[in-house]
Amino acid sequence: MSLSKIPLAGVIGSPIAHSKSPQLHRHWLKTYGLQGFYIPMDVSPANLREVLTSLPKMGFVGVNITIPHKETVLQIADLVTDRAALIGAANTLIFRKDGKIHADNTDGYGFLENLKVGAPTWNPKSGPAVVLGAGGASRAVVAALLEAGVPEILISNRTRIRAEILTKDFGKRLQVVDWAQVGNVLEEAELTVNTTSLGMVGHPELRIPLGGLRKESIVTDLVYTPLQTNFLREAEAQGCITVDGLGMLLHQAAPGFERWFDHRPEVDSATRAAVLG
Ligand code: ATR
Repeated sequence: MSLSKIPLAGVIGSPIAHSKSPQLHRHWLKTYGLQGFYIPMDVSPANLREVLTSLPKMGFVGVNITIPHKETVLQIADLVTDRAALIGAANTLIFRKDGKIHADNTDGYGFLENLKVGAPTWNPKSGPAVVLGAGGASRAVVAALLEAGVPEILISNRTRIRAEILTKDFGKRLQVVDWAQVGNVLEEAELTVNTTSLGMVGHPELRIPLGGLRKESIVTDLVYTPLQTNFLREAEAQGCITVDGLGMLLHQAAPGFERWFDHRPEVDSATRAAVLG
């Protein structure tokens, strides 16, 4: 392969120093002996458009997009998948050979794959899910749960109006529950998901009464720093099946890697170790 053909990819955000994506993609490149590079790029909102139109000319085949660009990138992309449009955000860009920028959102896919591995007994159709939070991450989770066939989603957010906006966008299977009341509906949940930033290192704890969580129900947290949040620890103590959030990060990266480097990567214990190391 000539040097100019070596595929380049990366992640664009600001700040970007703490992103785990470079470690992850480099681990896969090395594991499969593939040619390619994956680079973190700190790009300001003012420069995003110019950078994205230049990268393909430099040999980039695509990039991941993270905070604060996940929403605005939709206005720059030439093609946006239905799910990215519905979620209102993209995390994966493909630079096509015809010069067009294709935007997709794989967060929901990553979320579901992580649950499939961590809670193989979960049947989406078996009952309601409770979703805490109504930000960008919540939108990806809600879209994925609906697509998977979850019959009802009880959504609760500190700022109620944001949850109400989700019911407008995603339809009748969503019901808003007041943040102060959410402890009272947990007993209905087959699955409970924290999509807020509460419990993350440097953020306040998630403080809702968890006594209603049903034994054997599935509880998952999108927060993965720390890996075992207090929310997951308490749920586990109550007999719930818990799934940490790191797997979502790993699985959401797989479709992009496959498109850019032409190899479907495995998410296994070595992948987890590479990112945690
Ligand atoms: P993301 O794209 O990661 O979801 P976001 O859009 O900033 O990020 O959303 C963060 C989520 O965490 C929101 O649901 C937010 O609630 P608000 O909509 O009320 O802001 C939630 N969150 C953050 N800090 C919180 C806190 N101290 N108490 C309750 N919810 C909080």
